Amino acid sequence: MSADNSQPLVYARSVGKSFGDFKALTDVDISVKAKEVVCIIGPSGSGKTTFLRCLNQLETYDRGSIWLDGELVGYRKVGDVLHRLPEKEIARQRRKTGMVFQRFNLFPHFTALQNIIEGPCYVLKQNVEEATALAMKLLDSVGLREKASSYPAELSGGQQQRVAIARALMQDPKIILADEPIASLDPMNAQIVMDTLKKINVEDGRMVIANLHTLDTARRYCDRVIGMRDGEVVFDGTADELTTSVAREIYGADDSFNEAATSTSIPADAKADDPAWSQPAYAAAMVS
Ligand SMILES: Nc1ncnc2c1ncn2[C@@H]1O[C@H](COP(=O)(O)OP(=O)(O)OP(=O)(O)O)[C@@H](O)[C@H]1O
Ligand SMILES: [Mg+2]
Repeated sequence: MSADNSQPLVYARSVGKSFGDFKALTDVDISVKAKEVVCIIGPSGSGKTTFLRCLNQLETYDRGSIWLDGELVGYRKVGDVLHRLPEKEIARQRRKTGMVFQRFNLFPHFTALQNIIEGPCYVLKQNVEEATALAMKLLDSVGLREKASSYPAELSGGQQQRVAIARALMQDPKIILADEPIASLDPMNAQIVMDTLKKINVEDGRMVIANLHTLDTARRYCDRVIGMRDGEVVFDGTADELTTSVAREIYGADDSFNEAATSTSIPADAKADDPAWSQPAYAAAMVS
């Protein structure tokens, strides 16, 4: 499938997804090798979330094929006919990906540690002691070992997101799917969370695919940028190739397009508790 003979970890071919008559994804072709940090950008409604949800089977795609790690996602092919996989197989495939959400999705009445081991222990029936030991290791790796007993309300947004990242790592996924992981965070916490995702990529060799709304973050952290518009891939290139005029095309914007509105840049002398930098204004959609 690829020139250097190594198989892409994510391979999407002519993928389509409709909601009723509405085509949310049209002929999406994406091929990503292991170890890349990929971001998907594009205007609101362009299909970014739908694509991530198809990758981890929170949605079923209805045209084309998706392979993860060489395995067809959600279906088995018998002759020319596709058969839906049984739920158990789908659950197994789903563990290849760990999902991180904009709003963290932590249980408020569980501690950080309980949030992380809840799925493995109470849903998947894994051994509690082993799961706890792994969860503590993962909390340590995201810099939060001392917050294991804290409840989400006692943690900053960035800390909650790092708990969510640790939770996503529990099943040892090859791929982390992050749907606007920093859109609810102030710039300082946004940077800490992106640094954490980058560390997971560099140190653990996991692929990270993140939907982002901020172009400077995409350029700074991503090896590869995919631009979507109206359910189609309209750009696929390196961070360097994501020029302002390319971004303008992806967003279908005119000359009034202002990249500064998408910035998470933090001045060198900014203080974490400076109220000027705790406003999530940058998270707004890019084009008015
Ligand atoms: N469950 C659903 N039922 C009907 N339409 C849906 C559903 N999920 C998504 N859509 C539609 O599909 C399109 C793509 O949605 P999606 O959430 O993937 O966009 P997005 O690029 O993630 O946008 P945003 O940047 O606002 O998060 C939108 O027009 C949306 O309204
Ligand atoms: Mg979305």
